Amino acid sequence: MDDWTTSPDRALAQRNAEGWTFLIEAARDLRTTGAVAPSGRALARLLTDPVRASGAATLDVLEAGAGTGAVTRALIPALAPGSRLDVVEANGRFAARLRGLVRAHPLLAGAAQSVRVHHALVEQLDTRRSYDVIVSGLPFTNFAPAQVEAVMDRYLELLRPGGTLTYFAYRGTRLARALTSSRAEARRHRAVEDVLTGYQRRYATGRWTVWSNLPPATVWQLRRPLDTPRPTPAVPVGASR
Ligand SMILES: C[S@@+](CC[C@H](N)C(=O)[O-])C[C@H]1O[C@@H](n2cnc3c(N)ncnc32)[C@H](O)[C@@H]1O
Repeated sequence: MDDWTTSPDRALAQRNAEGWTFLIEAARDLRTTGAVAPSGRALARLLTDPVRASGAATLDVLEAGAGTGAVTRALIPALAPGSRLDVVEANGRFAARLRGLVRAHPLLAGAAQSVRVHHALVEQLDTRRSYDVIVSGLPFTNFAPAQVEAVMDRYLELLRPGGTLTYFAYRGTRLARALTSSRAEARRHRAVEDVLTGYQRRYATGRWTVWSNLPPATVWQLRRPLDTPRPTPAVPVGASR
């Protein structure tokens, strides 16, 4: 089990507390929080598969948009000894909670320095590291197209050649937005999807849907090619520069 709490009661209490924390932050700022509940276990597991697939290899891993740590808790046990994890979170209350998670995690006892929590926007992350795996929880469909492009370009810049990025998108958000929001909002949403399609066409190596997640979500896996020194920025479909 990914939770380190041993008794089922404590694990349930932890999940309930997490659910409330998430809901409160969503009520404060739904645009940045991007969901009303943390990711379920199946989604967290799929997002972190590239780390598990690397077996005993020592990796540098970046998690962006960690929220209450649903994916962080799946990542920590998957890290081989000597690996390093940077966790970046825009919300200060979530970041404080993530620091508590890292301090208390038994698998990190004596090695907590291998996981660092940064309270920052990932596109402004100041790091000299490059990464073998990046796991993104960012709510792209709430962003402006230019911000999505800035984040994706930063991810590709931070990835080592051959490195893997995973991120997810909830299913059905486009239709929901078209039915419930202004035309401008629906247009923005479509433009974000077009930007993401550009990166998927260039770099995608896999796509899976987790129907059991609430709401169901599609996970995308992208790989930075081995032979490109620097990724070329994606041009949104139907757009010109
Ligand atoms: C949809 S939640 C995902 C949380 C968690 N990864 C999960 O799966 O349960 C998105 C998270 O991204 C954070 N976030 C939004 N924009 C961000 C940015 N530019 N940089 C870093 N974190 C960001 C939000 O504060 C929120 O915690």
